[in-house]
Amino acid sequence: MTTHLDVTPGRAPTTALAVADICLGYPETWLRPDREGMFARLRAEAPVSFHEEPEYLDPRTGVQVMAQGPGFWAVTRYDDVMRVSRDPHTFRSAPSVNINDIPPEIAEWLGSMINMDDPKHTRLRGLVNRGFTPRQVNRINELIRDQARAIVERVAPMGECDFVREVAAALPLAIICDMLGIPRADHDRIFELTNVILGVGDPEYVSSITDLMAAGMELFQYGLSLAEQRLADPRDDITTTLMQAEITEEDGTRHRLTPSELGSFFLLLVVAGNETTRTAISHGLLALTRNPDQRRIWLGDLHGVTPTAVEEIVRWATPVIHFRRTAAHDTEIDGHPIATGDKVVMFYNSANRDDAVFPDPYRFDVRRTPNHHVGFGAGGPHFCLGANLARVEIRALFDELLRRLPDIEAAAEPDLLQSGFINGVKRLPCRFTPA
Ligand code: HEM
Repeated sequence: MTTHLDVTPGRAPTTALAVADICLGYPETWLRPDREGMFARLRAEAPVSFHEEPEYLDPRTGVQVMAQGPGFWAVTRYDDVMRVSRDPHTFRSAPSVNINDIPPEIAEWLGSMINMDDPKHTRLRGLVNRGFTPRQVNRINELIRDQARAIVERVAPMGECDFVREVAAALPLAIICDMLGIPRADHDRIFELTNVILGVGDPEYVSSITDLMAAGMELFQYGLSLAEQRLADPRDDITTTLMQAEITEEDGTRHRLTPSELGSFFLLLVVAGNETTRTAISHGLLALTRNPDQRRIWLGDLHGVTPTAVEEIVRWATPVIHFRRTAAHDTEIDGHPIATGDKVVMFYNSANRDDAVFPDPYRFDVRRTPNHHVGFGAGGPHFCLGANLARVEIRALFDELLRRLPDIEAAAEPDLLQSGFINGVKRLPCRFTPA
């Protein structure tokens, strides 16, 4: 089976579709094998293009969940994505960074800081920033390495397994859950719930909107009750920090986080800290399987190549495909007039394949330098809070894998998530010489 991951280095991917027939708003688009070709065409012929935003029907009942939206501008070139991301006064994160506006019934648990602008965003982000600085992440570096070692140790005798569940998902799940103070016994449930939240659009995970609502509510409530426990029994974890934090409003009044602020913060951290890094690691193994020369280069100098290889894995995978902004006033991008209130969507996957910035962009090159990819966002106030953490996790896991199981490879085609938001891999059988 050919997937959109099958690209040939040195050759620009193609599509038979004309620009007018490329519909980025439709879920079916995202599993098409010519996906890279579509973006190559858009970058070349229509770098800023307008797309319909179809209604969203409940996959099980067929009942309309979201009405047809006003449509959105797709920004596909690197320079334009940078410009939108770094001008938060013109391109706002409120009311939502997802293409569809948040329905009121889920706004309570989805209304986290990622959908906010200054000054509230800065205040909320400031509460947890310290937990994610390079210094703090270095402090838990040994813990991350120990976890990575334990995960590889556990699968080593098997000779084969599902790479996504047993390896790629295991590390980010364990680390973010530990940071938040979630007991080990609950980690599997957290894994299932985050799958549902970011699996919107894939019928395997979200067969109806009720599933999504139930998963969101459960995580939200879980965060609230964990926070309640921390009030009585404070620990050295982020949930305790959030529970004890006070924010200062513009009028100078101070207050503890409201249940809605607290629950949605918890939900954001647990979801963002899980799926993205897992996706990067899974694509990393696929890329090494398809590019044995790059594996040889990496194995030949593990210490020297790892830093550039980690960045290349994030560029290659681009786990988060897009985020949206909303124009605060009339403006233009690359000569296209953008009106107040228009939705503007930055396609990071496309920016990361822009040959104006990345020579031979369809080549997976573990020594690529420079590599100023936009996998963690393109700069600005919302730049990925967990970028340092994700880098350390990817590094620890591949260090361990390449040392202990140097011939580990994908044993079959990946089962890809149907999503225009997360470039996810649901399952990836792998094999290796047992150790
Ligand atoms: C390879 C892994 C990851 C990728 C590719 C990734 C990607 C992104 C992207 C593209 C953004 C939006 C940036 C922007 O709008 O400018 C973002 C934001 C965010 N990420 Fe990550 N992320 C990853 C790992 C993590 C981890 C491990 C955490 C840990 C909790 C995390 C937490 C967040 C949070 C909280 C935000 C919102 C920040 C804000 O609104 O100020 N991410 N991430």
